[in-house]
Amino acid sequence: MPQRKVKPLIAGNWKMNGLRNAAKELRRMAAQCAKSPKPKADVLVCPPVQLIWPLRETVKGSPIRLGAQDCHPKASGAHTGDVSAEMMADVGARAVIVGHSERRTDHGETSGLVRQKAEAVHGAGLTAIICLGETEAERDAGRTIRVIGKQLQDSVPADSKPQNTIIAYEPVWAIGTGRTPTLKDIEKAHKALRTRLVKRFGADGEKFRLLYGGSVKPGNATEILAIDNVNGALVGGASLKAADFIPIVQAAG
Ligand code: 13P
Repeated sequence: MPQRKVKPLIAGNWKMNGLRNAAKELRRMAAQCAKSPKPKADVLVCPPVQLIWPLRETVKGSPIRLGAQDCHPKASGAHTGDVSAEMMADVGARAVIVGHSERRTDHGETSGLVRQKAEAVHGAGLTAIICLGETEAERDAGRTIRVIGKQLQDSVPADSKPQNTIIAYEPVWAIGTGRTPTLKDIEKAHKALRTRLVKRFGADGEKFRLLYGGSVKPGNATEILAIDNVNGALVGGASLKAADFIPIVQAAG
């Protein structure tokens, strides 16, 4: 299957969690990644922005890369309280998560704004991890595929490439709830996203990584990561502790 050629990525989204002493936990993760068997997946941790610079020493020499969460669509300017993708690149981030449902819901971010943010991430030479997913009401109304198809169309910039763009399917109702869609439903959603990517980007569409996110834990990672067109996971709560995160990394391969 073509999607098996895509190297998986396990990405941790720490959200608004982490003080400087988080280095201890990250050091534990780095040490466990160094042990055999070596991870078959790429590993990314996205801490809050103030930790990126100090933590770059902690992950040095390990397979763990650092990413960031959200950014302003502009590179610089009079935008009090905002941080640009360029600034995140400057402190050592390799990727930026944009369009997370917590941004779409808490800050009213539209897919149009998410696309501009993804363009800014590309402009800074980083990888955009673009999140999308349906609400519970949309799922109950049988609109999942339509909703995520539209979010994909409107949030993903036209010049996106598999090298600088990752799509994360995160059903809103599965985030932080311990609930997940059935394996069949995840497969269906990822297949629909893949089909749309191929339609829009041709052969390149096969190569974009499609991550699943929403209550991924050590106990369900193996079966989720084995689904066709699931090329990794975006992990929230279970990415905060090495004891949870590393088994998920090891489940990918
Ligand atoms: P949880 O893994 O805590 O459900 O969060 C998923 C998520 O929102 C990752 O971006």
